[in-house]
Amino acid sequence: MKIIIDADACIGCGLCAQVAPDIYEMQQDKAVPIRSGMQDGRKEEAENAAEQCPVNAISVS
Ligand code: F3S
Repeated sequence: MKIIIDADACIGCGLCAQVAPDIYEMQQDKAVPIRSGMQDGRKEEAENAAEQCPVNAISVS
């Protein structure tokens, strides 16, 4: 799974990190994917959070 977050588009609402805290975290008011391997096999959760992003800043593939 590959997660790309457009840092320019992200408005720092924090929703993705709330919805999927094992996959996304906030760093200086921008969301980043957690690089711990915890997101392995959790694509559905990652996509669900991406769909809720108000500015569509997250792409999961
Ligand atoms: Fe940013 Fe969207 Fe997450 S605005 S904090 S990527 S829900």
